[in-house]
Amino acid sequence: MNAAEQLGQITSEVVVCTRCPLSQTRKLAVPGEGPATAQVLFVGEGPGGRENASGRPFVGPAGEFLQSLLTSIGWSRSSVFITNVVKCWPPGNRDPMPEEKQACNGYLDRQIFALQPKLIVTLGRHSMEKFFGPGRGISRIHGTTARWRGILCCAMYHPAAALHQPSLREIIQQDFARLPTFLEEAMLEPVEEPEPRLATPPAASPAEDAPSEVPQLKLF
Ligand code: URA
Ligand code: SF4
Repeated sequence: MNAAEQLGQITSEVVVCTRCPLSQTRKLAVPGEGPATAQVLFVGEGPGGRENASGRPFVGPAGEFLQSLLTSIGWSRSSVFITNVVKCWPPGNRDPMPEEKQACNGYLDRQIFALQPKLIVTLGRHSMEKFFGPGRGISRIHGTTARWRGILCCAMYHPAAALHQPSLREIIQQDFARLPTFLEEAMLEPVEEPEPRLATPPAASPAEDAPSEVPQLKLF
């Protein structure tokens, strides 16, 4: 299967998935969207109310802000892939629970394997934890990069947090402004990979994820 077919296959599994209790309260699962050729993958936390109603990621207020951040760096939404750590709406917009994240993790791993993105941008704490490891404060590592399975990752505040806290707005704008440089770097250098990229697809059933501490890249 090529990348587009793999992504389509994952989508078709997600929309009928009952692996965790979020399946009982969702309206529509939100697999994620974007071209199979996308070089950049954005990973949010989980669908909100508007996403649950439409089946599409980041279409509410946080999505509007994300769109304006993308525009500010000259990237179009349609050129990147956008998904979430959990694909179904946590009721009341609560945080996803560890078991829910664990149950859903394999879909994200498979999306990454299919896309082979050059750059992964994490939006918010739950996404950051998967790629940067637990216990890393977002206030310290926002705007910085690390490698996960050889792929360059950059941590961002969640756009919704910046919407509610005006002081974060400028910070997230400044962090976004660095993304084109990070992508350029990622395209240029096949940097030493602390962990090899996945050579085989992750199992269809979600497996234990083991984020590892990797050295901070010193690009600046
Ligand atoms: N917030 C998220 O984390 N993801 C969405 O898709 C929408 C809002
Ligand atoms: Fe399946 Fe993920 Fe939805 Fe849970 S959140 S039902 S694991 S798609």
